[in-house]
Formats: sequence, structure tokens, C-alpha cells
Amino acid sequence: MGIGVYELTGRTALVTGAASGIGRATAALLAQAGTSVHCADLDGPGARATAERITADGGAAHAHPLDVTDREQVRETVAAAVRADGRLDILAAVAGIMHSSPVLETDDADLERVLAVNFKGVLYSCQEAARAMIAGGAGGSIVTMASGAVDTGAPGLLCYGAAKAAVVQLTRTLATEVGRHGIRVNAVAPGWIRTPMTARRTPGAQHGTEQAMGRAAPLGRVGEPEDVAHSVLYLASDAASFTTGQILRPNGGVAMPW
Ligand SMILES: NC(=O)c1ccc[n+]([C@@H]2O[C@H](COP(=O)([O-])OP(=O)(O)OC[C@H]3O[C@@H](n4cnc5c(N)ncnc54)[C@H](O)[C@@H]3O)[C@@H](O)[C@H]2O)c1
Repeated sequence: MGIGVYELTGRTALVTGAASGIGRATAALLAQAGTSVHCADLDGPGARATAERITADGGAAHAHPLDVTDREQVRETVAAAVRADGRLDILAAVAGIMHSSPVLETDDADLERVLAVNFKGVLYSCQEAARAMIAGGAGGSIVTMASGAVDTGAPGLLCYGAAKAAVVQLTRTLATEVGRHGIRVNAVAPGWIRTPMTARRTPGAQHGTEQAMGRAAPLGRVGEPEDVAHSVLYLASDAASFTTGQILRPNGGVAMPW
């Protein structure tokens, strides 16, 4: 197996959450590896900006405004990608929101919103992408975005962590069901990554928080979106052709679960 296993020319990828942070970096890297990338996000102009940056760099990209909590929109976005390129090989289900509230102050609205985006949105994306991959008959790779929150407890992260734990279970279950179609399903569970999401979580204290989080990691730093994008690229590529149902943790070594 040579280095060409990372080459993805001729394949089509759909990236949700592609307007920002990890999703934007993932879309850019998959395009560099040769895929035609469909950049989807609730932030339509942001998705367009990502696609324009990719095409300006010589890559192939389309933009789609998409709310992943709307199953019909997800179905239409997958269909649009297949119409444009005749196939769908890769899904990176990155779209997500951060929410923090103590258990005793968590209400139904908090729970429902976080589960809608961070779990149901990933479920709809996986279902529609897997159906398109099965119909295409050429296998595929689905990569979901979990979080280090699944490995530990942390104050305020009940809804977020529960949704991400559900994403892990979805990943494992789907992997057992679609492997016979040549479709692999894996999760990435990043540690603290420097993105607009983490900047919003630590208003005015971003630098200090990042330094503290970095000191806690054996590699001595927090992550960059590109660190996670490379994990997605590995799982999307033929380099991971015998890997399914797994969780990959780009986290600087901050957690080392079995
Ligand atoms: N940044 C971190 O430290 C970190 C760590 C672990 C996991 N993650 C996960 O990685 C993913 C990306 O996070 P990020 O840090 O890049 O965040 P980000 O806020 O920079 O980007 C998230 C993107 O998702 C989009 N989005 C939100 N709701 C959506 C919806 N309903 N439909 C479509 N798009 C929607 C946003 O518009 C945004 O562009 C998330 O799932 C997050 O939970 C992030």
C-alpha cells in the first residue's frame, strides 16, 4: 500500500458545517486531496466563501445552504451532490453547536436544540449519505464528529456530551449495518481545537484558556482545525480501508481511553 492511498481524485465529498472552523479546514483538505467538495452549512454565505476559496486554490467545490435539522433539506443536498457529480463517496458530518448549562438548570428547549443539531442532524446526514452510497454501489466513507466530551464528565456539558455519545453509538451501529456495502463509518473525537466555537465559549479569556488547555496535553498545545481535518482525510481515504466503527482522537494526548 503506497502513499497514493490518500489520493482522492474523482471522488465526491459532502462536508456539513463547512462555513467555519473544523468543517472549513476539512473541506479545504479534502479538495486538496482531489475530491469535488460540497460545502454545506446553515451559514450559506460562509459555505459559499469556503467553496470560493477552494476554487480559487484550483480545487472543485459547490456550496449549499443547509440546516441539518431538516431531513428534507439534507435529502435534497445529498441529491444535489449526486446530480452534480454522479456519485457520493465521502460524508464528513461536522456541523454542530456548543451548549453549556448545569444539569439542574437544563430545560427541555436546551436539550431539544442540542440533540436536534448535534445528534439528529448527524443521523439525517448519515442516513441520506449512506442511501446514496448504497445506490451508487461503490462503497464510501462516513466520518462523524464526536468530541472528547464523550470520554469524561465536565460541568455544563450534559446536553452536548449526551448528543456526542449518541453520535458515537450511531457511528458504531451504522458501521455494523453498512459494512457489507463497502461503506466504512468512523468518528473523530477532537480535544480542544482553536475555532470560532471555542472562541465563543471563552469570551475575553481565549488566550488564557488555550494556554491552560495546552499545558494539560502531553503535546503541550491545543489543536488547530487542520489537525482534525487530517484525521478526517485519513478515515475518508483508502489508507483506512480496514478501519470501521472506530473513534480517532486528535487531542494532543489529553485523554487516552482504552
Ligand atoms: N472546537 C473544538 O474544540 C471541538 C472539539 C470537539 C468537537 N468539536 C466538534 O467539531 C464540529 C465543528 O466545530 P467547530 O469548532 O469547527 O465549530 P464552528 O462553530 O466553528 O463551526 C460549526 C459550523 O456548524 C454550522 N452549523 C451549526 N448548526 C447547523 C445546522 N443546524 N445546520 C448546518 N450547519 C450548522 C455553523 O454554522 C458553523 O459553520 C462540531 O460538531 C463540534 O461539536 C469541536
